[in-house]
Amino acid sequence: RAAPGVLPSLLMCDFGDLKSELDRLQQAGTQCLHLDVMDGQFVPNLTYGMPIVEGIRKHSDLPMDVHLMIKDPLAYAKPMIDAGADSLTFHVEAVEDAAQAAREIKSLGACVGVALNPSTPLEALDGCLAEVDMVLVMSVDAGFGGQAFNPIALERLQTLKQSHPDLLLEIDGGINRDTIGQARAAGCDLFVVGSAIFKHQDYSAAIADLNAQMSG
Ligand code: DX5
Ligand code: ZN
Repeated sequence: RAAPGVLPSLLMCDFGDLKSELDRLQQAGTQCLHLDVMDGQFVPNLTYGMPIVEGIRKHSDLPMDVHLMIKDPLAYAKPMIDAGADSLTFHVEAVEDAAQAAREIKSLGACVGVALNPSTPLEALDGCLAEVDMVLVMSVDAGFGGQAFNPIALERLQTLKQSHPDLLLEIDGGINRDTIGQARAAGCDLFVVGSAIFKHQDYSAAIADLNAQMSG
C-alpha cells in the first residue's frame, strides 16, 4: 500500500504557466498529482479534459489521479487513460451501477476509485466496494476549491477503515494544516489539497507543513 501523502489538486494553479507549476510541485516532493475534471453538468463548474491531461503527461512523470466530476464517466474513461491518467475516480452519484462502472474502468487498466459527496449516504457504496481500489470521501460538495471542511468525512473514513481495511482512502475538500491531522487519525491515506498549497508562494514549505501536521 502507498505511503500516506499529499496530492496537490490542479484546480487553482496558474494554467497559463502550467509547466513551471509542475516543476515547482515536483521540486516540492509531490508524489502524485490530483486532476479535477468537471463538465458543467454533474457539477456547476467547468475545468478541463484530455488535452490538458495529455499536456501534463508530456512534461511530468508523476502519477495522475484523475477525479471525474462528470455526468458520464464511462464515456471518458478510455480517452482519459489514453491521455495518461493512472487512476480514475468516478462519482457514485453519476452512475446507475457503480460496481459495473468500476469493473469497466479496471478492465481498461487503470486503478479505480469511487467518490461520494457529503450528502450521499455511505450505503450508496455498498455494492461496489469489492470492485474498487480506492474510495474518495468528499469533505465538501464537489465542484469548487476553497470550501469549508465538512467533518462528516471523518466518520465515513473511520467506518470504511474498519469495514474495509485494505481499501485506499482519499479525502478531498477543505484539507489544510488544521484538518489534515484529523483525517489521518480517521484512517485516511491520501490527502487532496488545493488552496492550502496554491495560496502560498512557497509550495515546498506548504507541503512540508501539511506533512508535519499529518503525522501529528
Ligand atoms: C473540489 C475538488 C478539489 C478541490 C479542493 O470539487 O475536487 O480537488 O480542488 O480544493 P480545496 O483544497 O481548496 O478544498
Ligand atoms: Zn478533486
